[in-house]
Amino acid sequence: SNILRVGVAGLGTVGAGTLRLLQTHADRLAERAGRRLVVTAVSARDRRRDRGIDLSGVRWYQDAAALAADPEVDVVVELIGGSEGVARALVEAAIARGKPVVTANKALLAIHGTALAQAAEAAGVPIAFEAAVAGGIPIIKGLREGLAGNAVSRVYGILNGTCNYILTTMRREQREFGEVLAEAQRLGYAEADPSFDVDGIDTAHKLAVLTATAFGTQVDFEHVHVEGIRHVSALDIAYADELGFRIKLLGIARRTEHGIEQRVHPCMVPVATPIANVEGVFNAVVAEGDFVGRVVMEGRGAGAGPTASAVVADLVDIARNRAVPTFGRPSALLAPPDPAPMERHRGCYYIR
Ligand code: NDP
Ligand code: HSE
Repeated sequence: SNILRVGVAGLGTVGAGTLRLLQTHADRLAERAGRRLVVTAVSARDRRRDRGIDLSGVRWYQDAAALAADPEVDVVVELIGGSEGVARALVEAAIARGKPVVTANKALLAIHGTALAQAAEAAGVPIAFEAAVAGGIPIIKGLREGLAGNAVSRVYGILNGTCNYILTTMRREQREFGEVLAEAQRLGYAEADPSFDVDGIDTAHKLAVLTATAFGTQVDFEHVHVEGIRHVSALDIAYADELGFRIKLLGIARRTEHGIEQRVHPCMVPVATPIANVEGVFNAVVAEGDFVGRVVMEGRGAGAGPTASAVVADLVDIARNRAVPTFGRPSALLAPPDPAPMERHRGCYYIR
C-alpha cells in the first residue's frame, strides 16, 4: 500500500513529539519512506488533556494493548514506558499479530529484549528501538549498519541526559542536586521514576541494549555493574576540575579476557577528551572498532524533538522494509558484574 498506518501508544513527551514531527514533515517523510506515514490510532490515559496536537480523525484507545488489534494499524509505536504492565502487553500483542514494533522503551528491552526478539523473529516482524539509546543520536543504526565491518572492542558513553544535565549544571552554577533534578524533570528529560536516572539504572538499561547491538550478544541487564550519581557532591566536581577531569556518569561495555564486561558508574574523564565537554542534556557515545578505530557521536539524549527524530527514523525503515533482526545470538560471553578492575578517586573511576 502507499500508506503505512501507524498506531501510537503514549502521548507524553515522546509520543506528542512524534506526532508533531510526523505532521510537520509529512511530505518529506513520504518521499523518504516511499509511502505516507499516517497516524490512524492513539492511546493514552487521559482523553481530555490538551496535548497541542491535532487528533481529529484518529481513533482513541483507552486500553493500549487493544490498539495492536486495530485492523487499520500496520505498525505499533510503544511510547508508554515501564518494563512490565501495559507497555509489555502491547508489544507482545503487536508481535502476536505480526505487526512491526517501534519502541523507545529501554527498560522493557533491557529486561525482556531477548525474549521479545525471539518472539518477533519467530513471527517475522522487526522490533526497532533507535530511540531507546541516547535519544536523537543514531547509535543503533550507526553500530549495526555503519560499523558492521568491524569487531568492536569497546563502546561507552554518556547515555543519560538527566544525569549529564545535573552534573554539568551543578558544576557550572554550583547548584544543589535536588534543585537541578527538578529542572530536568520539568524539561521532560527524566524517567517517570527519576531514581532510574540518578541511580544509573536507565544508563544500565541502555548499556545492555547497546552491548547486544555492538557485540552481537543477547541483552543481559543482570550482568551490568551499576552505580549512580547520588553520592557525587559539588565538592567532588570541583576537586575533579582542579585535577583536570570532569565527572561523567558513563556506561561502558568492553571486551575482556573474561567476556564482555558491562559497567555503569561515575567516571573521572580527562578534560582533553571530547566527551568531557559534552554538557547539559547531550549524550555522547564512543565506539572502538578494529578497522575503523574510534568513532564518536554526540547529540541530545532526551527530550521531545530528539527522541521523536529517532522514533520516526525507525518508522521510515519499516516503511521501506529496511528493518533488521533485533538482537544477536549469544556469540560472546558476558562477564559478571565487577566493580574492581578500574582505579577510583573519591568514588569515581578513572577512564582513559
Ligand atoms: P511520559 O510520561 O511523558 O508519557 C507517557 C505516556 O504514556 C502518557 O501519554 C500517558 O498517558 C501514557 N500512558 C501511561 N500509562 C498508560 C496506559 N496504561 N495506557 C495508555 N497510555 C498510558 O513519558 P515519556 O514520553 O517521557 O517516555 C515514554 C517512553 O519513552 C518511556 O519508555 C521512556 O523511557 C522513553 N524515552 C523517553 C525520553 C524522554 O526524553 N522523555 C527519551 C528516550 C526514551 P497520559 O498522557 O494520559 O498520562
Ligand atoms: N530519562 C532519560 C534520560 C530519557 O534522561 O536520558 C532518555 O532516554
